[in-house]
Amino acid sequence: MENTLVLVKPDGVKKGLTGEIIRRFEQRGLQIVALKMLRLSEEKAKIHYEEHKEKPFFGELVDFITSGPIVAMVVRGEKAIKVVRTMMGTTNPVEAAPGTIRGDFALSMAQNIIHGSDSELSAIRETKIYFQDDEIQG
Ligand code: CMP
Repeated sequence: MENTLVLVKPDGVKKGLTGEIIRRFEQRGLQIVALKMLRLSEEKAKIHYEEHKEKPFFGELVDFITSGPIVAMVVRGEKAIKVVRTMMGTTNPVEAAPGTIRGDFALSMAQNIIHGSDSELSAIRETKIYFQDDEIQG
């Protein structure tokens, strides 16, 4: 079993997509083992996105992810990292396949509804930003 960190970004929360996203994961057979709504601090946003700190869109990325409430969750299942990323669709929603979350609900690269960890290392690192060990169901 694998855990991955998923964020419903401020645009996803604002559009009322949290339930739909959780429904898709659960319907697929993935399990939600931690869940919270929060407003991310600028400091934590910079830690989350540190690998992008040299990119020209870094400021925009931090401003956006801190602009409103987000929903963070740990999703568990067989190959959960890959399965979640496939269900999310490509980072650029213009290219995301219909039936994927971004392919159905997003058009903007900066405001693309959802984030999911891209590797086992990222999943472990990112999960620690949002959850204490005792907030994750065993
Ligand atoms: P995410 O999966 O959260 O990881 C990094 C984010 O950077 C990505 O989703 C996009 O929302 C954002 N991003 C990537 N490329 C660009 C870009 N060219 N302009 C603005 N935002 C971008």
